[in-house]
Amino acid sequence: MTKSGNTILITGGGSGIGRALAEAFARAGNTVIITGRDVKKLQSVVDANAGIRSAALDVTDPSSIETFARTVVQEFPGLNVVINNAGIMQIEDVTAAPANLSAAEATVATNILGPMRLTSALLPHLQKQPDATVAFVTSGLAFVPMAATPTYSASKSAMHAYAVALRHQLRGTSVKVMEIIPPYVQTELMGPQQAADPHAMPLADYIAETMSIIQGNPDVEEVVVERCKPLRYAVKNGNFDQIFKILNP
Ligand SMILES: NC(=O)c1ccc[n+]([C@@H]2O[C@H](COP(=O)([O-])OP(=O)(O)OC[C@H]3O[C@@H](n4cnc5c(N)ncnc54)[C@H](OP(=O)(O)O)[C@@H]3O)[C@@H](O)[C@H]2O)c1
Repeated sequence: MTKSGNTILITGGGSGIGRALAEAFARAGNTVIITGRDVKKLQSVVDANAGIRSAALDVTDPSSIETFARTVVQEFPGLNVVINNAGIMQIEDVTAAPANLSAAEATVATNILGPMRLTSALLPHLQKQPDATVAFVTSGLAFVPMAATPTYSASKSAMHAYAVALRHQLRGTSVKVMEIIPPYVQTELMGPQQAADPHAMPLADYIAETMSIIQGNPDVEEVVVERCKPLRYAVKNGNFDQIFKILNP
């Protein structure tokens, strides 16, 4: 991805990491389109940032994804970067009886099927661009799971594997695959308390380090900030069990 001049679609761009990335990429001279379900949130980002455009899109709705993909490439024929960022994170007690899989089903639909469907719908267009990137926002929990959020952790592991496989399938084409792997960051992913949690990385610091990695190496495959390295490289470092225990006391 070049430093500027891209046309970038960011799902879940109305808040948190998606919004902050959208603003950073727009400031760097890119055209940015954000999507999400809550049009009021999207509008407030558009109002605050000249140059950011928005469209409603629920990534759990296959027919909306098809329609959206058709219209976005008509309106933005230069679209060359897709950042699959929208996601949900819910606590689940897998041992509860009777079993309730509603959170698991919603998580799979949003965090796995959503990015797969959107990516598949846009890949024919992206492959026609001279320089394109598909990015997936996964998580450090893809590499060391948090026991309280089993399906969330599994969904991020799944998208890590998907990104690695897609990168291999797309070798020799103009489309690069990037994985953005955040640590615990101050957003409202799990509610307002997370945005104020001193144990979470401040959002502005996270975005500054992430942008510096991407702009310093436009073809970077995995964007791993310092804070996330203990999780991402736990297996490689031979301390997975120790990190798992710290994460799950
Ligand atoms: N914050 C962290 O600690 C952390 C750590 C690792 C990874 N991540 C990942 O970072 C990404 C962004 O999360 P965040 O922390 O920035 O939290 P966030 O502020 O809650 O952002 C999540 C975004 O996803 C959108 N979204 C959720 N369900 C959707 C759906 N069905 N269709 C379309 N959009 C949907 C939400 O917008 P609407 O409600 O408007 O749809 C929201 O803007 C997620 O993939 C998350 O898993 C976050």
